[in-house]
Amino acid sequence: MKKLIFVCLGNICRSPMAEFIMKDLVKQAGRADSFQISSAAASSEALGCCMEPRAAAVLKRHGVPFTDRRAVKLTSAMIADADLVIGMDEGNLLAMKRLARQEDLPKLKLLNEYSGIPHPVADPWYTGDFETAFYEIQQGCKNLLQF
Ligand code: 4NP
Repeated sequence: MKKLIFVCLGNICRSPMAEFIMKDLVKQAGRADSFQISSAAASSEALGCCMEPRAAAVLKRHGVPFTDRRAVKLTSAMIADADLVIGMDEGNLLAMKRLARQEDLPKLKLLNEYSGIPHPVADPWYTGDFETAFYEIQQGCKNLLQF
C-alpha cells in the first residue's frame, strides 16, 4: 500500500484536483487497492472549506469523479505516515519541509518532478487558469502511477 498526500496552499484547488485525478487513474488501472490517496493544505487560509467551484467544474468537464470534501491542514504526523508527500509549488515544499521530521525529508517532492514540466503548477486561485492546472496535474499523476 502506497500512501500519497498531495499538498497545495489552500487545499481547495490544486491538491484536491490531484487527489481526485489520481484516485481516478489508479481505479482505471485496477490498482485502487494499492494506493491510499489524500490531500492537505500548507496554510490555514481555507481550512474547512469545500473544493473551489472552478476546480470542481474542471474535474466535471474532464469526467473525473469527485466527492464532497473539506480542506485540512497538513501535519508532521501525516507526513510521517505517508510514503510520498507531493507539493504543487516551491512555497508548498518549504512549508512541508518545516513540518517534516528530518527522517521524512526524502518523502517530500514536487509534482512537476514527475510530470517533466519544467516549472511548478501555478496556483489557479490566482491565475484563473484551471485548464492548465488540470493538464499539468494529470501529467504528473500519470507518471506517479509507476511509483
Ligand atoms: P490552492 O489555491 O492552493 O491550489 O488550493 C488557493 C486556494 C485558496 C487560497 C490560496 C490558494 N486562499 O488564500 O484562500
